[in-house]
Amino acid sequence: MFAFNYFTPTRVVFGRDTEQKVAELIKTFGGTKVLIHYGGGSVVRSGLLKRVTDTLDAAGIAYVTLGGAVPNPRLSLVYQGIELCKKEGVDFLLAVGGGSAIDSAKAIGYGVANGGDVWDFYDYKRKAAGCLPLGVILTLSATGSEMSDSSVITKEEGQIKRGYSSDFGRAKFAIMNPELTMTLPDYQTACGCADIMMHTMERYFTNGGNMEITDAIAEGLLRTVMTNAEILVKDPKNYDARAEVMWAGSLSHNGLTGCGSDGGDWMTHKLEHELGGLYDVAHGAGLTAIWGSWARYVYKNCLPRFRRFAVNVMGVEPTGSDEAVALKGIEAMEAFYRRINMPTNLRELGVKPTEDELVTMAHKCAVGVGGAKGSARLLKEADMLAIYRASL
Ligand code: NZQ
Ligand code: ZN
Repeated sequence: MFAFNYFTPTRVVFGRDTEQKVAELIKTFGGTKVLIHYGGGSVVRSGLLKRVTDTLDAAGIAYVTLGGAVPNPRLSLVYQGIELCKKEGVDFLLAVGGGSAIDSAKAIGYGVANGGDVWDFYDYKRKAAGCLPLGVILTLSATGSEMSDSSVITKEEGQIKRGYSSDFGRAKFAIMNPELTMTLPDYQTACGCADIMMHTMERYFTNGGNMEITDAIAEGLLRTVMTNAEILVKDPKNYDARAEVMWAGSLSHNGLTGCGSDGGDWMTHKLEHELGGLYDVAHGAGLTAIWGSWARYVYKNCLPRFRRFAVNVMGVEPTGSDEAVALKGIEAMEAFYRRINMPTNLRELGVKPTEDELVTMAHKCAVGVGGAKGSARLLKEADMLAIYRASL
């Protein structure tokens, strides 16, 4: 077991109609002038944005709005948001939406609080010394950004998608009403479930120490999300299934399922970030398209964990060699992805990279991780290229 530092300062307000508490929560955390940041318009169409602004109006809280955060949120909008906040004297950020709106808001918060070029943080050139306080109304269970320390931004120039992690970026509060996710397209619901599971799987497949309690939480979380993801394929309005998935999303990326480990593997995410940067694919689908190839490439180097995963999560009979059991677990996970209509390779994802593009992605990925990364197996640029090739 490794020592760990578990910090989850976000107040979670969970359940039906909880968005009505937004003004009260902003006041609790000292907000007097708010930037409401959202995505491409789903919160306008659903009426959620109007309900939020009505609540703020009634409470006498001033605000400005900025929509337009797209999936794989762009740096140019972040710059726009920073300028708007400075001009308007904004002292509190409210992200209403999924991971993209939340991550974009975090980046705006870093930009306002620190000055200079905010991309420096994503380019690993310096560390943030603060962030504007942030609240979240979550509409998509997926990234866990509502409780995580991360923000992932895409710089248009060079199509570079990078994450920055800092405790300053953790939300002060997260309002989570599972009903708000019922307007999601089925594809986004499934992408979200895949992403949620991957945040735990990245922490689970390690060669570092682990705690039995952490493994038990991780395995329970994975089984719960699988069960409820399949319920949502058939019954998208099922409140209880939405609630299970929503809470799992937060717990999967707030650090809980990594306590005592070596920090995790994270290479599936890093390989996906290149796909997101280059082809603008949905994050969860990019992850499932790459995971099988990654798993087959690394499982022999992390056999006890893959065997345990097969038996405890995927329900594989523990008979036969460890390798055979581990492989059955990988196959079972891919079968699950197909049942929730997620891709298991790049063709099914709908992208057809050329050999040159694969080489470019592997190179950018290697640069992005500082040369080599991975706990299940340490991957260098040549390994990354091999995995991309195997995922075609
Ligand atoms: O933009 P709008 O119109 O709101 O539509 C969005 C978008 O098209 C739509 N949507 C969201 N809630 C909805 C809804 N449509 C109908 N009803 C609702 N209730 O769904 C689409 C996807 O939204 P987005 O926010 O992009 O998805 P997600 O939450 O999956 O976020 C993806 C981004 O987060 C990053 C990903 O890489 C990607 O850029 N990640 C962030 C992490 C973090 N901050 O901790 C960790 C993750 O691993 C991930 O990398
Ligand atoms: Zn993710």
